[in-house]
Amino acid sequence: MRKINQIIDRYKKEKGALVPLLQDVMGEYGYLPGETLKKIAQELDTPLSRVYGLATFYKSFSLTPRGKHLVSVCLGTACHVRGAPRIVEKLERDLGIKAGETTRDLKFTLETVNCLGACALGPLITIDGKYYGRMNSAKMDKVLKEYLKR
Ligand code: FES
Repeated sequence: MRKINQIIDRYKKEKGALVPLLQDVMGEYGYLPGETLKKIAQELDTPLSRVYGLATFYKSFSLTPRGKHLVSVCLGTACHVRGAPRIVEKLERDLGIKAGETTRDLKFTLETVNCLGACALGPLITIDGKYYGRMNSAKMDKVLKEYLKR
């Protein structure tokens, strides 16, 4: 809680500083805990609905804990027709979670996105922002194994 107080203090005097404040909380905790959002609303004398509104508007914010590694599977048209749904199914099976969820050990968060801007490489995934193109089941196993070690 001390860290949260420090972050809030940093932004208290700046009007409209809610987004960078939430970014700092994300950086510290990896997600936006509900209790923290309430505290931010109180301390900044801002309606809780506004804080939640921003926290749910931006895709980079999360209200639930995120894993150490973020796996994003592109489901844009070009990747979709090249088999991206099968990659999602495989990852869901291997990680034991559904897209949008985080593994219990907080190692992986799985999400789907629409077009990562490199359609020729489809099916395409990113892990922590690193691109892996022309994915298939065997390649996916190899890549995932690498991140399991980290
Ligand atoms: S559709 Fe997947 S990168 Fe564009």
